[in-house]
Amino acid sequence: MNKVKVGIIGSQFEADIHAASFQIAPEEAEVVAVASPTPGNAQALASRYGIPRVFTSYQEMLREPDIEMVTIAAPNRLHCRMTVDAARAGKHVVCEKPLAMTLEEAEEMIGACRKQGVLLLYAEELFFTPKYVKAKEMADQGAFGKVYLVKQSEKHFGPHSSWFWDVEKSGGGVFMDMGCHGIAFCYWFLNRPAIQSVYCQMGTYVHADKTRGEDNSICVIEFDGGAAGLVENSWARRGGMDDRVEVHGDGGLTYANLHMGNALPTYSEAGYGYAVEKAPSTKGWSYPVFEELWNYGFPQEMRHFARCVRGKEQPIATGEDGLVVMEALYAGYASAGCGAKMALPYRPRGVKKPIDLWLGQSSAAI
Ligand SMILES: NC(=O)c1ccc[n+]([C@@H]2O[C@H](COP(=O)([O-])OP(=O)(O)OC[C@H]3O[C@@H](n4cnc5c(N)ncnc54)[C@H](O)[C@@H]3O)[C@@H](O)[C@H]2O)c1
Repeated sequence: MNKVKVGIIGSQFEADIHAASFQIAPEEAEVVAVASPTPGNAQALASRYGIPRVFTSYQEMLREPDIEMVTIAAPNRLHCRMTVDAARAGKHVVCEKPLAMTLEEAEEMIGACRKQGVLLLYAEELFFTPKYVKAKEMADQGAFGKVYLVKQSEKHFGPHSSWFWDVEKSGGGVFMDMGCHGIAFCYWFLNRPAIQSVYCQMGTYVHADKTRGEDNSICVIEFDGGAAGLVENSWARRGGMDDRVEVHGDGGLTYANLHMGNALPTYSEAGYGYAVEKAPSTKGWSYPVFEELWNYGFPQEMRHFARCVRGKEQPIATGEDGLVVMEALYAGYASAGCGAKMALPYRPRGVKKPIDLWLGQSSAAI
């Protein structure tokens, strides 16, 4: 069978990861087009990765009949419109995290894809991160007995693009941006038990000069069956990216430190080219990683999605997962807003963006 033809929407940070990932795992799919509104940006990505077609309008790209799957690597507030447009054009959709700005949007995206008979694939790469997949395999084999606690934490000193800091465009701060990973991870790791409750504490400790969003958050999730998830996130942590997992059961435990565990503890007076995502310096002590995208699981994720389009695999990261995460994000912000544990289901309507439930703009909806 032919390779799945892919169009990428966006041309910057995550779009580059998508393009690189298809190149690292080229067996199932090929990127044939990229669309990004700023003149020259799509062309620059296309030149780096040998992508033949370039558009400044994603709608125009969607008119290309041979494109079967699009990946959305654009700001959160555009995910819904882009997904619905792509579905109506008959394209399978890979949408970056978080799935949407609101529960209504998430439902609309799922409904549109279902109606058009296309897949809505949720780009949660932690379901594909080799070290974390190994931890889950062991847990599923009973290595840790009955798992009672899963911890996932992702921290760095803040995102690279201005729109992340603008809660109107992002929907929230670090909890929205990276808490979505941890919530999805705990849910997936425990084999998708329903979430019973969410409790969150958050604050803006370091970056109040540039955002109304929280830059540190702690989230406790109680699942059906009794296990707890602990999701810790920060945009206030210096020293580059930190991503780690702990699993605790009545029969054992495991620690998976994604970066430090895979890195080369290094000291350099002169510095060198690149250590790890968002590391500010390579001088002095640093922890350079290797095969960074592979260790995150991005190429494996894109390969899986292409195989789903061909019917060779069943999707393991879907719009429904993204919807579960959205509800937990709502509950987390509402919990931080009122200082109490929120019971699920928690689906207030008419919320404009999740962070409003913490900042108070939508108190009528709580
Ligand atoms: N899975 C992960 O670990 C991960 C990491 C980073 C970002 N992301 C997600 O990926 C998405 C993009 O983030 P990013 O870091 O690449 O942001 P970015 O600011 O680096 O890039 C955003 C891109 O969106 C494009 N864009 C904006 N409006 C557009 C439009 N109307 N049509 C087409 N393109 C448009 C911009 O031109 C730019 O190329 C976000 O949802 C983010 O949460 C996921």
